[in-house]
Amino acid sequence: MDIDNFPPPCIPLSPILGDESISSIDHQVTIPSINDATYKLETTSGRAALSIALEKCNVTNQHEVLVPSYHCESMISPALRLNAKVIFYNVNNDTSPDIADIKRKITAKSKAIIVTHFFGFTEDLTEIKDLCDENNMFLIEDCAHAFFGEVNNKPVGTTGDYAIASTMKFFPVFDGGILASDKHDLSNVLLQKPSKSFQLKSAINSVEKALSYKRLGHGGQILKVLLSIKNWLWNLIKNSHPNSQNLTNVPGSSEGGFHLDENWINVKSTIFSSRIIKRANFSVISEKRRTNYQLLHEALSTLPTCEPLFKKLPKNVTPLVYPLKFHNPERYFETLKEKGVPIWRFGEYLDNSITEDEFPISCELSRTIFQFPCHQSLTQQELDWMITTIKDTVKA
Ligand SMILES: Cc1ncc(COP(=O)(O)O)c(C=O)c1O
Repeated sequence: MDIDNFPPPCIPLSPILGDESISSIDHQVTIPSINDATYKLETTSGRAALSIALEKCNVTNQHEVLVPSYHCESMISPALRLNAKVIFYNVNNDTSPDIADIKRKITAKSKAIIVTHFFGFTEDLTEIKDLCDENNMFLIEDCAHAFFGEVNNKPVGTTGDYAIASTMKFFPVFDGGILASDKHDLSNVLLQKPSKSFQLKSAINSVEKALSYKRLGHGGQILKVLLSIKNWLWNLIKNSHPNSQNLTNVPGSSEGGFHLDENWINVKSTIFSSRIIKRANFSVISEKRRTNYQLLHEALSTLPTCEPLFKKLPKNVTPLVYPLKFHNPERYFETLKEKGVPIWRFGEYLDNSITEDEFPISCELSRTIFQFPCHQSLTQQELDWMITTIKDTVKA
């Protein structure tokens, strides 16, 4: 089977619409999150937010931006877009930043550093913050994996100059990112409203995704019929519209791609995404993710040839996924995907300059750490199926 042509996952890879994500209960019992930052903008993706953050830091072609050597393309392209030089720094085995390497790589040209809270496990930023202050550098917290959590007793995303989030990873939305800051006013950043067709597409897509995984109860059946009529009408309109491209245009970030679309950087997130996040019950989402993570940990951490990336789930962590290390990754990755298990391998395609000699840990992490979903929308049956399938595959 072609490596990029796996069947769609049998169970949802990311959150989908359902009671567990949205609630009529006001989220009074809120938990610390990037949403607590004083200044916020809702963008269409995390990479769009990162692009604006770097512009706000006045990064130009005269500057260097420090980025983790364990990364995905969308963490690099915002700096390259401004023609800045990307300088990679090492991460440790537990994905924390290698401070000694960062110190070695800071030069007079260093303008900003991006620090990622990988998989929702937040990092202590004390030393990096001091380094930034000493060297007149901006600190950007990458909270794409950590919408919730605390850093040095403050909500995640409020320690650095700027922070970004990727809300599609934590909420059942088709588009969404956040640019946040506790220090810098963002009111002078102007974002355009998304087109009406994208507003509609975003809402419909969330509903369609829920229906494809048999959610939304009896009302779902009626919606299914309505949506097939809509699809039929939509195809008619598209085929007769001279600019059909404009009608179907969506950001690559919403379709799982890693490219940065210039046209989507200064665009607001859709009303649908924004409303869903406002109505989300943060504490329920966090608790469900933690419970699912613990279930996966109990079932999978002792499997032969596997090892958990993190031995414990600390109190304030809301995990993005369950990261598990496979000693023979190539033996299992494709098989699991072929069976419909939703897995990611973060950093699967590292930048060409990342070599085994210079960045052995990042190369190993990118090859060996598989991430299994633990999001709030998984049912017990889906979790059981995933656990059984993984166990059977590893033991086979
Ligand atoms: C660590 C990290 N930072 C930033 C991003 C960019 O977020 P988005 O996909 O919302 O643009 C991603 C995307 O996967 C990511 O994993």
